[in-house]
Amino acid sequence: MEMTAAIAMDRMYRRQRYVYDFTRRYYLLGRDLLIRRLNPASGGHVLEIGCGTGRNLVVAARRYKNAHFLGIDISRQMLKSSDRAIERADLQSRVRVAYADAADFDPGALFGSPKFTRIFISYSLSMIPDWPRVLEGAVRLLADGGELHIVDFGGQERLPRWFRNTLRKWLALFHVHPRDDMERTLAALSSRIGARLAFERPYLSYAQYAVLRKAR
Ligand SMILES: C[S@@+](CC[C@H](N)C(=O)[O-])C[C@H]1O[C@@H](n2cnc3c(N)ncnc32)[C@H](O)[C@@H]1O
Repeated sequence: MEMTAAIAMDRMYRRQRYVYDFTRRYYLLGRDLLIRRLNPASGGHVLEIGCGTGRNLVVAARRYKNAHFLGIDISRQMLKSSDRAIERADLQSRVRVAYADAADFDPGALFGSPKFTRIFISYSLSMIPDWPRVLEGAVRLLADGGELHIVDFGGQERLPRWFRNTLRKWLALFHVHPRDDMERTLAALSSRIGARLAFERPYLSYAQYAVLRKAR
């Protein structure tokens, strides 16, 4: 029987979540760069798709004190950690998370907030088989003039081949598959909806970073 994504993620993160924030700081590169560039307007609503332990939401909410932050995740185990992190940071009035599948969810029903000025996806598309569908859904949830920020594993073309091959084999053990056609997929999506796309491959192509800005 095929394991559902929710069961697979819960199995993986049931214990991992306790060491997640400490260990991932060394190899999920670009998360703080993304948060620095988010720059939501005062009163704006920001959504993280695949929020995990809530680490990004807490860091962002501390930085942007006048914005509201919402997150969804398919792992109830991870949501236990994010709930706790939000509570510890005393951010319950501005940060909320909920259980949902990134490929199909209704933020209006979950949070009462149908559109967002910023949406971000950090190292989650590489774990979601139908990631192009998540992108399609995310742009529909963006307010006019809003931005979708994405950071994830890149193609590592500028790093030694042995490093790339070893990293990819290791990542596959954790259901992680770098999306080598992310730029092409985002370019097609942007041109279809008349959005502007900026794309980079920071950290010697270790990561990929995209910002899609929806027209006003
Ligand atoms: C590598 S973690 C990244 C967490 C966080 N964004 C960060 O940067 O630390 C990937 C997260 O995506 C979540 N995820 C995987 N598939 C998902 C799906 N279909 N819908 C929502 N979340 C999903 C996992 O449960 C996990 O919390």
